[in-house]
Amino acid sequence: MVIVITGASAGIGRALAEELSAAGAQLVLAARRADRLNELNAKLGGQHLVVPTDVAVQSECQQLIEMAVQRHGRIDTLVCNSGYGFLSPVADMTRQQFEAIFTTNVLGTFDCINAAVPQMRKQEPRGGWRGQVMIVSSAVARRGLPYFGAYSATKAAQLSLAEAMRVELAGQQIAVTTVHPIGTDTEFGDVSASQSAGRRPGHVDREIRQSAQVVARRMIGGIVRPRPEVWPYRPSRWALGLATLFPRIGDRACQAMRVQE
Ligand SMILES: NC(=O)c1ccc[n+]([C@@H]2O[C@H](COP(=O)([O-])OP(=O)(O)OC[C@H]3O[C@@H](n4cnc5c(N)ncnc54)[C@H](OP(=O)(O)O)[C@@H]3O)[C@@H](O)[C@H]2O)c1
Repeated sequence: MVIVITGASAGIGRALAEELSAAGAQLVLAARRADRLNELNAKLGGQHLVVPTDVAVQSECQQLIEMAVQRHGRIDTLVCNSGYGFLSPVADMTRQQFEAIFTTNVLGTFDCINAAVPQMRKQEPRGGWRGQVMIVSSAVARRGLPYFGAYSATKAAQLSLAEAMRVELAGQQIAVTTVHPIGTDTEFGDVSASQSAGRRPGHVDREIRQSAQVVARRMIGGIVRPRPEVWPYRPSRWALGLATLFPRIGDRACQAMRVQE
């Protein structure tokens, strides 16, 4: 299979690349840090295609897809994984900060999909699918977290786009899958903290976390047999479903994260 992964230079994307490469997939590795991608490719044997890409730039997303098609003639799965978090109360953010996170997390996802789907439509089906779009959203797509409001909104936007596209593209044999990790041990926390506007959420005791490898393995399950959603930590799906039905319960659970005024 030919699999394009954005955000392959670290965390979940890198772990996914390692697992998929070991399983024999042909990869196209994208992110801004070319040195990291080249180091990963060398570690994996050097046979994958590295395309330094800033997904916040539309022309770079288009170029990524073009180079993948030029090299392999098809894209079986596009994994839209690039993204970052931003810690701040919503009302204290500047418009530029708000715009920047939407540009990377939402427009970056859209621009890659927009470039890849016309190509997937032309491909011969394999295992019943011409192609698959997999979007790494988050558990917070279903419930906005305090101090992560803008980030949560980008993840909810990704989920909404995927829900619509799944129905729109089903007749064209293109699968659409969203991934909803809980807290995962990657560089995400450090990047979010470095972007922080000063205030941090309160410490939550007994927070359950997963490794990037566990998330990557669950994602591979969703690539081998495409399904609507992958929840690497299954209980979170039910807990967040409940929070959707009873928002006050969700509010109460989030109170522990409130910063003392
Ligand atoms: N870790 C968690 O707790 C968690 C939970 C739920 C969902 N997620 C989601 O999982 C995805 C991966 O995050 P992670 O946890 O693996 O974090 P990470 O270790 O910080 O990795 C983020 C990846 O995104 C790439 N990226 C960021 N901005 C980019 C841009 N403008 N253009 C291209 N690539 C960009 C980074 O590469 P460069 O810096 O080299 O460009 C890096 O490869 C994100 O979408 C995140 O929202 C994470």
